[in-house]
Amino acid sequence: MVNKILKARREKTHAECLFTERLSGSVKISGSKNAALSILAATLLTDEECVLENVPALDDVFVIFELLKRLGKEIMFSKNTAKIRGKAKHEDLPENLVRKLRASVLVMGPLLARRKKGSFAVPGGCALGERPIDIHLDGLRALGAEYKISQGRMVFGKRSLKGADIKLRFPSVGATENLLMAASGIPGKTVISNAAEEPEVHDLYLFLKAMGADISHVKNTYVISGKKRLAGCRFSVMPDRIEAGTFLLAAATVGGEVKVQNVIPGHLSSVTRALSATGAGVRIFSGGIKITAAARPEAADIETKSYPGFPTDLQPLWAVYMLKASGVSRIKENIFSGRFMYVDELKRLNAKMFLERDVLTVRPSRLSGASLLACDLRASAAMIIAGLASHGKTTVSDLSHLFRGYENFFKKLKLLGANVSIKGA
Ligand code: EPZ
Repeated sequence: MVNKILKARREKTHAECLFTERLSGSVKISGSKNAALSILAATLLTDEECVLENVPALDDVFVIFELLKRLGKEIMFSKNTAKIRGKAKHEDLPENLVRKLRASVLVMGPLLARRKKGSFAVPGGCALGERPIDIHLDGLRALGAEYKISQGRMVFGKRSLKGADIKLRFPSVGATENLLMAASGIPGKTVISNAAEEPEVHDLYLFLKAMGADISHVKNTYVISGKKRLAGCRFSVMPDRIEAGTFLLAAATVGGEVKVQNVIPGHLSSVTRALSATGAGVRIFSGGIKITAAARPEAADIETKSYPGFPTDLQPLWAVYMLKASGVSRIKENIFSGRFMYVDELKRLNAKMFLERDVLTVRPSRLSGASLLACDLRASAAMIIAGLASHGKTTVSDLSHLFRGYENFFKKLKLLGANVSIKGA
């Protein structure tokens, strides 16, 4: 389990990256971190046993395990299969756990559906800038939830919720997931419109149906008729499209030819289209994607959007790739305000990047090694890949971010031929 000692140890570890000519071979992608987190929260909707397969062994998952145990669940986890059972009990969620994991906000919906009162620390901001939860709270209030804020905690009263029509002001992934879970366990009909379409939300929808939820989905609208009792079930978590995109972009940036296996190619259409536009060779086969890096990629502009647009989580990886391009490219970030924190660090590698508000301009750069400090999960992966494409040695310190969201990242990279190692405690 992730505890203070482990976290402190992770903070002391750093990656040592040396220039790598090319990557080659194939990599098996793990289960989706973000799908697993909401599905694990949804197990609070039943006391029966849920068996979840293809759950990635990574720190964010271990934190939500800790939360579920605090809420009365017994959890057994081995070989990427989690068995969860037990009666959820009302509990004031511990501040340290909620602050550690933004996704802990996802337990609110299922707990309120089970008519648990309880208090939740307001989730902290994080490296991606301000992370409000107003869309979650507006939706829960529409279902009848009542809360007040005291000492930085949201204290929910013990009220029974009932179905309602909810239109999200923005298709928030987490808010859609929270409201799907709450609506599945309360009486009455709920319609959620302008809902998020991300594949991870769809995976949660499939899990809720497997639990017996009465739920239908047409484009960005969900219609749910809540049920008093939902059953345990067996379910396999979808592959992690962001990890798959990370390895595709690693191969495109470093050079070579790599197959990512155990993916759903349709989840990555915006990314494979953008890669093809730069002259990279992309071949789709059943359950996988093969990429052949372009000798000198063409510049291609992207802007991040909600699914099926280019995913914000791969924006830092794309920026690093464009450093290798033959021309100038622009990246517009539309989802998170604080998603360019990595730019100043990459400039230490001689990256020619210029940020104006939410548009990053990237010029062709000859990268040379330096010491970098990781700032968030996806930026950590981007810095490591930049280090592999830099002449000389690059160190990336504080790998605690990376271990939150990638399973066996270094082992997978080394198997593809990357000159990378972990140093420190
Ligand atoms: C989920 O975050 C993912 N996390 C993120 O992945 C991902 O980047 C994001 O969706 C977008 O795809 C998990 O699933 C655990 P949002 P979430 O609610 O749910 C604003 C990673 O690296 N907003 O769709 O927090 C918000 O500030 C992580 O794996 C509100 O204003 O994303 C942001 O600007 C990073 N009020 C935008 O909407 C709200 O109540 C998108 O947020 C909620 C969100």
